[in-house]
Amino acid sequence: MYIVLLGPPGAGKGTQAQRIAAATGLLHISTGDMFREHVKNNTELGQLANQYMSRGELVPDEITIRMLLERISRDDAQAGAMFDGFPRNLAQAIALDQALASRGARVDRALLITVSDEELVNRLSGRWICRQCGRLYHQQNDPPQKPGICDTCGGQLYQRDDDKPEVVRERLQKQKPPADLIQHYRQAGVLREIDGQRPLDEVTQALLEAIK
Ligand code: AP5
Repeated sequence: MYIVLLGPPGAGKGTQAQRIAAATGLLHISTGDMFREHVKNNTELGQLANQYMSRGELVPDEITIRMLLERISRDDAQAGAMFDGFPRNLAQAIALDQALASRGARVDRALLITVSDEELVNRLSGRWICRQCGRLYHQQNDPPQKPGICDTCGGQLYQRDDDKPEVVRERLQKQKPPADLIQHYRQAGVLREIDGQRPLDEVTQALLEAIK
């Protein structure tokens, strides 16, 4: 099964992808995490991507699509995957459709998580991430037991550079799922809209129902 998670920055795609992966065993592929790994390792791709990420802009399609296609060509992605943060536009969606079609597969569900702008700002400014295992927290909504320390692995928590208020404003302006992307999946009959404003467990439940 191939699933795409759509939604604006801070909607809960990463948090819910981690929960769905734990519940179903589906492989979680996050283009944002892949770019951040490249930035951390200071690769050529990371240096290039960071020029866009630090301004709250999308990384150009050519780079993003190449990286994603390479990722899904690996053995562990042959039986299915859940894409978090990809596709972000119609060109990326078409590239994914073509790659899946070539192996007799398709996007089975596109889950659109909707959240108000006010709540998105609150979520991004309160987000903390484990440096070691990547688990996501929120300082009010989903805090760790000990401040600054991951409950799962004891790693240190950090805040993303692109969660600074001025970059968040740009991301919210430029990175909401565009209408033609949503329409693409609606027409294919695979779109499901999920109210992401609700508590974490309720959103997880709704998403799991939608992929049954
Ligand atoms: P990426 O990492 O994908 O960032 P994003 O799409 O902006 O999404 P976020 O990770 O910020 O938010 P999320 O929806 O995952 O929310 P989360 O679960 O963390 O991309 C980063 C950058 O990489 C982009 O800006 C771009 O430059 C580049 N990039 C990536 N993919 C690309 C592509 N395909 N094409 C081009 N460029 C690309 O939740 C947020 C917070 O809210 C957390 O603290 C969480 O605990 C809390 N929370 C979540 N759900 C709830 C809830 N229901 N109730 C209360 N709190 C909640």
